[in-house]
Amino acid sequence: MRPKYVVGNWKQNGSLAGNQALLKAVLAGVAAAPGRHCAVCVPFPYLDQAESLLKGSAIAWGCQDVSRFDKGAYTGDVSGGMVAEFGARYAIVGHSERRTVFGDTDAIVVEKFAAAKRSGLTPIFCVGETLAERESGVMEKVLAAQVDSLLEKHGAASLEGAVLAYEPVWAIGTGRTATAAQANEAQAFIRQRIAAKDAGVAKGLAILYGGSVKGSNAAELFAMPDVDGGLIGGASLVAEDFVAIWRAAGAAR
Ligand code: 13P
Repeated sequence: MRPKYVVGNWKQNGSLAGNQALLKAVLAGVAAAPGRHCAVCVPFPYLDQAESLLKGSAIAWGCQDVSRFDKGAYTGDVSGGMVAEFGARYAIVGHSERRTVFGDTDAIVVEKFAAAKRSGLTPIFCVGETLAERESGVMEKVLAAQVDSLLEKHGAASLEGAVLAYEPVWAIGTGRTATAAQANEAQAFIRQRIAAKDAGVAKGLAILYGGSVKGSNAAELFAMPDVDGGLIGGASLVAEDFVAIWRAAGAAR
């Protein structure tokens, strides 16, 4: 049985005082549990704070994006190596907000994926379709293209030890969660796509669902065979909601 992941994506939210209160409350509700992983992906300036508050706890930390370059004249970028210096484990790459607001293409996202790995970080590679794409019947085509961009450039073996997240754009921050069946259908499709290249990697790969996951719907989503946990936006900013999702991941095992 694959482990379950509960990963918070704080997005561009937080403050030193607010983070401290939030993490203190989350720490009170999250203890190490076999087969379950918990993490928060914080804005870059808070990596140091995350390390000092979370080191030695059951909660890992990470960032939400990473430069595709290792170092040099790339004003404004932050390398995986810099992030790793703060004890971070994860780097989200290809989040739909990076793709749509900041122009990250499939080609850029797969470079960021490789850069994260070079730095020893675990990439969380995000894919997902828009509502228009789903409604016009091209969901599988879109997901296949996003997954194939990685498989073609770096091979299925590059996903060994990585994490994938299916985040339908229409469910992000909208309160409109995919049904458990919709999430599982898309995630089973993604897994099959990878299995066609490497069945072993596909079988072991954690595929998370993201998009309006809450304490009230997490258990049903996480009970699905191809849903290995969640990437949590809004609910990761409220300790009691995030802890409720963590508990749901335990109940789903
Ligand atoms: P919400 O949980 O706020 O819908 O955000 C999901 C997300 O984008 C996580 O990466």
